[in-house]
Amino acid sequence: MKPNCISLPRRLTPLAARQHSILKAIMHRAAGLAVVCALGASSLSAQAIQYIESRKVWLLSTGQSSYAMGVGTDGALRHLYWGAPLWRAEDLQTPAERRDISSFDPRQMLEAEEFPGWGGPRYYEPALKIARENGDRDLVLRYLSHRIQHNDLDIVLKDLRDPIEVTLHYRVYADHGILRRSATIRNGTAKALTVESAQSATWNLPPGEGYQLSYLSGRWAAETQLNHEPIHEGSKVLESRKGHTSHNFNPWFGIDAGNATEENGRVWFGALGWSGNWRITVEQTPYRQVRVTGGLNSFDFAYPLKPGESLETPPFYAGFSQSGFGGASRTLHRFEREQILPGGATSRLRPVLYNSWEATTFNVNEAGQTALADKTAKLGVELFVMDDGWFGARNDDHAGLGDWFVNPQKFPQGLKGLIDHVNGLGMDFGLWVEPEMVNANSDLYRKHPDWVMNFPERPRSELRNQMVLNLARDDVKEYLFGVLDKLASEYNLRYFKWDMNRSFSEPGWPEVAPAEQRKLWVQYDRNLYEILDRLRAKHPKLEIESCSGGGGRVDLGILQRVDEVWTSDNTEAFDRLRIQEGFSQAYAPKIMSAWVTDVPNMNGRSTPLAFRFLTAMQGALGIGANLNHWTDQDSALATQMIALYKRIRPAVQTGNLYRLASPRTNDVTVNQYVAGDGKLAVVFAFRHSQQYDTAAPTIRLRGLDERAVYRVEAIDNKLIEKQPELSGAYLMDVGLNVNLRGDFDATAVVLERQ
Ligand code: GLA
Repeated sequence: MKPNCISLPRRLTPLAARQHSILKAIMHRAAGLAVVCALGASSLSAQAIQYIESRKVWLLSTGQSSYAMGVGTDGALRHLYWGAPLWRAEDLQTPAERRDISSFDPRQMLEAEEFPGWGGPRYYEPALKIARENGDRDLVLRYLSHRIQHNDLDIVLKDLRDPIEVTLHYRVYADHGILRRSATIRNGTAKALTVESAQSATWNLPPGEGYQLSYLSGRWAAETQLNHEPIHEGSKVLESRKGHTSHNFNPWFGIDAGNATEENGRVWFGALGWSGNWRITVEQTPYRQVRVTGGLNSFDFAYPLKPGESLETPPFYAGFSQSGFGGASRTLHRFEREQILPGGATSRLRPVLYNSWEATTFNVNEAGQTALADKTAKLGVELFVMDDGWFGARNDDHAGLGDWFVNPQKFPQGLKGLIDHVNGLGMDFGLWVEPEMVNANSDLYRKHPDWVMNFPERPRSELRNQMVLNLARDDVKEYLFGVLDKLASEYNLRYFKWDMNRSFSEPGWPEVAPAEQRKLWVQYDRNLYEILDRLRAKHPKLEIESCSGGGGRVDLGILQRVDEVWTSDNTEAFDRLRIQEGFSQAYAPKIMSAWVTDVPNMNGRSTPLAFRFLTAMQGALGIGANLNHWTDQDSALATQMIALYKRIRPAVQTGNLYRLASPRTNDVTVNQYVAGDGKLAVVFAFRHSQQYDTAAPTIRLRGLDERAVYRVEAIDNKLIEKQPELSGAYLMDVGLNVNLRGDFDATAVVLERQ
């Protein structure tokens, strides 16, 4: 099959390739020209997975990366390559057998195994560890068979003696530059066994020195802080043991060859799709091999498999960028928007939302919410969300969680009146729920004290006065589905804000046999996913926000079931710039819920309303302020900003993000968003704290068409360039200057291609 090739001037690549929608491309460099070979859909799927039977090697390719593995002469599946696109599977070598260096350095430690079991002389992090009933724990995996269907490859490995099988699943998202891996572990023996560690994948980096790890860490109200550090010999473990994805580490990694910048250099990256306990181990062996192993956390893990039973690990997605961290995150963002989020590319732009929490806390009632809704609608808000406090005996955080019926004192006529009113104002209505939790002071707990996770006769730790229901139990799952289904059926709800305000403790499940109890870590999340999937299937218009005291449950597993996430309970705009910078490494701006709230905020800091708006407008804009306290001037500015946001929203939510200046290293933060069709772009610029009367640095834009002319529109008088039109080349090579002065000054510039 002959690919259809066109030639483009090298200067335009890869932007031009994108603009010409040649995303299914394999790029060959030729002198002075970049030749882009666009493959048709059918030829693309044939090319996405190449297999050479005589050598037993597989080459998996996307438009921007390739990945290869092969079977060694001993039958082990070895990793061969991960990096820039290769196009010729014939080039791949059948992995040669290595020799022991010494009796302490066996050959197994030198071979990049694709999915190593714990067995034989292997001392690195295994992808799978099991224990048989008789105490035998040795597992050595060998290639058995494989199957290719379209862009899916399944490779079956089997223990060298027993019918313990692992099917490695690979899916090539050829148009999106992403490879998905997961594994199904099956007990084909006649005896029970216990899985002690079940990872989704081991990713081997190319042999090399000087790798650097990027990862996200934090805590409540300080999530997704970006870290870069050298990888040294030994292991670095990123994980959650808390039952949810966690405010601490987020299941994303980036590894670069030591010299990548925002827009240049090679970056290998990955993200797990799991909302429970997870772990990613980044390891450099004494033989200079860097490996990343990730999947279910093996801490407190023991998953029994009876004969014939199997365990499926969560998906682990990965990709490779030659355009630095910016390229890596743009790849992930597009993949999430088009392949992960419910509705994919067809899902609507996120509406401008109002949330009552910071205005009224638990003190909600029909009159107060109606008054807020009236003010909200005038600003141009599209979705009104009533937060905590509307149900049970919920006047503070000591009571009511679990009792999901409308509080009759606060809403004597139920919610219908309020919802009709909100709908009459032209807004959709959304409701806060926290289904997984219960207060001791609730009817539900009084009736079902056994429904919370617990170890009998042990204390049940309360955090925020609440306990966690054991959602691994099917009766709890059915009950919660029923409660939410009833609310969604009874009322015209467009949106649930699904909260989860504490981590697990005492994760006991006394109703099942002791050997089965630790299945809770997995079953809880499966049931959570099932409820979300069933709710969405039954109520197709219902949208869901994942919140866990802010960004405590943000990962590619939950994102297959929700439309946006609450980024952080910290809405202080300056702190947010860093939280959002880290968040954007892994997650698309479209899902990043960001509110404008009142000041002084966290840190006792007061930033101007325009600074707060421009910060929040870089994601899915929401307002969380107490509108009753706003002046007419505040409302006028808000109305203007919301109108502007609606204009630039397609660029922000579905465009390409270029992080031009980082809040970690500069006195300014600058981010630029370019719409997918290149017609609209917006630049947000923030000055944190000016010193010595220095001017803000010149902003050189990216991702524009250098031959095009753009109409440049300042939203205020802070843009120094006064020409209404500038070329892409000028904007990218000379740049723009903004007059940002003092503390917390901000502006935005809108560009429209002429
Ligand atoms: C959590 C959320 C907040 C709010 C409160 C309500 O803290 O993150 O946004 O919904 O719960 O109790």
